[in-house]
Amino acid sequence: MPDAVSAVVPAAGPGPRPFAWPTEGLSYGGDYNPEQWPREVWDEDVRLMAEAGVNLVTLGVFSWGLVETADGVLDWAWFDEVVALLHAHGIGIDLATPTAAPPSWLHTAHPEVLPRDADLYQQPPGGRLAWCPSSPVFRRYALRFVDALARRYGRHPAVRLWHVSNELGGGNARCYCDVSAAAFRDWLAARYGSVDAVNEAWGTAQWGHRFGAWEEILPPRGKHGAPNPGLFLDYERYSSDALLAHYLAEKDVITRHSDAPVTTNMMVGPGAQVVDYASWAPHTDVVANDHYTLVDDPDREQDLAFAGDRMRGMSAGRRPWLLMEHSTGAPSWQQRNRAKDPGEIARNALGHVARGSDGALFFQWRASTAGAEQFHSAMLPHSGTRSRVWREVVELGGHLRALAEVQGSAVERARAAMVVDDVAGWALQHGLKPHRSLRYGRELRTWHRALWERQVLCDVVPPGTDLDGYDLVLAPTLLVLDDAEAERLRAVPARGGTLLVTYLSGVCEPTGRVRRGPGVLEDVLGAWTDEYYPLQAGEQVRLDDGSTVEDWTERVVLDGAEAVVRYATSSLAGGPAVTRRAAGEGSAWYVSAALPRAGVDRVAARLVEDTRLPRTVEADPGVEAVRRVGDRGSWLFLLNHTDADRSVRAAGTDLLTGTDHGPVVTVPAGGVRVLREPGARP
Ligand code: GAL
Repeated sequence: MPDAVSAVVPAAGPGPRPFAWPTEGLSYGGDYNPEQWPREVWDEDVRLMAEAGVNLVTLGVFSWGLVETADGVLDWAWFDEVVALLHAHGIGIDLATPTAAPPSWLHTAHPEVLPRDADLYQQPPGGRLAWCPSSPVFRRYALRFVDALARRYGRHPAVRLWHVSNELGGGNARCYCDVSAAAFRDWLAARYGSVDAVNEAWGTAQWGHRFGAWEEILPPRGKHGAPNPGLFLDYERYSSDALLAHYLAEKDVITRHSDAPVTTNMMVGPGAQVVDYASWAPHTDVVANDHYTLVDDPDREQDLAFAGDRMRGMSAGRRPWLLMEHSTGAPSWQQRNRAKDPGEIARNALGHVARGSDGALFFQWRASTAGAEQFHSAMLPHSGTRSRVWREVVELGGHLRALAEVQGSAVERARAAMVVDDVAGWALQHGLKPHRSLRYGRELRTWHRALWERQVLCDVVPPGTDLDGYDLVLAPTLLVLDDAEAERLRAVPARGGTLLVTYLSGVCEPTGRVRRGPGVLEDVLGAWTDEYYPLQAGEQVRLDDGSTVEDWTERVVLDGAEAVVRYATSSLAGGPAVTRRAAGEGSAWYVSAALPRAGVDRVAARLVEDTRLPRTVEADPGVEAVRRVGDRGSWLFLLNHTDADRSVRAAGTDLLTGTDHGPVVTVPAGGVRVLREPGARP
């Protein structure tokens, strides 16, 4: 068996190490890659950073091969100079370990570290994150460099935060090589104890796949097969743990030489993520996210809000979180990379701050002229300081300074929560399922959107979160559900709350095995699913509330619940589509169809009314409203995503302009106001 580093992850400690926030006031800046520029440009950089109000830059992300120029040969001269320059100008450093970018000499000497895809095709050198997470060779080289970096700068006063690697998993989320196979077996041994227990969990009697020895167990290789669902899910979990174990190995080295907080930049958006970040979050001192809106998404502002709510849900008890990367304009990796509209930079950045980020950082400071990302936007675009983007970047720096007092406050406690689980998303989207094109993100975003449009705050939380304080709990398509989480959901109506569950929830155990009836939520819902009726492409079924469903319908049997909406066409006509069971003061809803937006909206309106969920403000859809609350008062963020001015009943001093408003405030089209509410102490 080849050697492999362990992917078994120890339990997280009790909480983040105490640390001071990396900057005074909110953090502002971005990735800084001075290595792409001649020395004289650096002086201009720090001068312009001061003009924009930049106080934190992420340094060194791709610098490994530029410092370790050959195996064991270290040239720190240029790096020392940049660190000193930034420090002299009072700019804090978020120091990145450059392990996302192995030097080419390493790939040449050790091509075995390159990851292999499911067909065992080996990724070529170059690109990013071109390494197998379980490779002991890669780990040795990576930690040797991290150790040298942390020894050299770990106690430097400019180093305020550590940024482990870059978007771990973005390129090497799954590796199927023999080393990974060995690490997977060790991981399975730690989880199950014996080969027989693995056989039992995965149900390998089917197709006669029973394993007699550890060596017989392989990753789910081959892109065209139909892997055992248990094997598939465990390989996803192992892969997430393998990367987390790498992060922890780097963190361990760093914390030997530095007291600064440690994080890594996640890639959290809607739907299932490449790794299970909820299990990573407790291992970070600050939870950090990279978020890029999609140019062709008409609802991209809501996508951003969803990601912010998800970060907040993951960082519970570790507030605040940090927006580590977003863009001032066009990314370069989408199909048609359009600039942001005037005002969109501030709306996006302040939208993240509204939802709990104590800063707004970008990729990147200065636009590259060469290399793969030469057309990616930046804080300082190719056209320089005469550009609109630069003017908006300087303006945003001023806004963030004006919002310094918000730092350290928390987002107001939400009364609604949505339970989101990456494992459930992986299960939904892979393998031989009743419908093979369902997308986890669809339900999540449609339900979140209905609340967002009503200015109802919703925490997006991982399984295991205490749901007791929530009046409304949404559980969309939680295909895989463990008994403990099912119990937490069942408790919601029992204590007077409202629970809404959508189709395909609770169907499988964590092993991927289908549960036999009665269903794990059947008693609380008072309804159960007899048969699935996924719809063919283009096929539509009407409901008696006038809406039209595509993709998913079910034959539902009532057993204590009433039908709120019924199917009106197809062989399901007359049968329940949406059900509700009253349970004392509480209620439990089941939605058996992939409701269109209007249908979701109607149900959501009733839930908000029945549950008397507070709206942050009462405004038209397109006005986003979030309140942050701290020891010194409260701040109301109002973002107008529409192209007309909107008036809202609210009062306070707009920190962005210094003007007082109330009892009605007008938020200009596309604009933002942040009101320090009466009673707050600056
Ligand atoms: C991120 C990545 C950055 C940069 C950016 C471009 O995913 O971390 O290094 O490539 O995308 O949008």
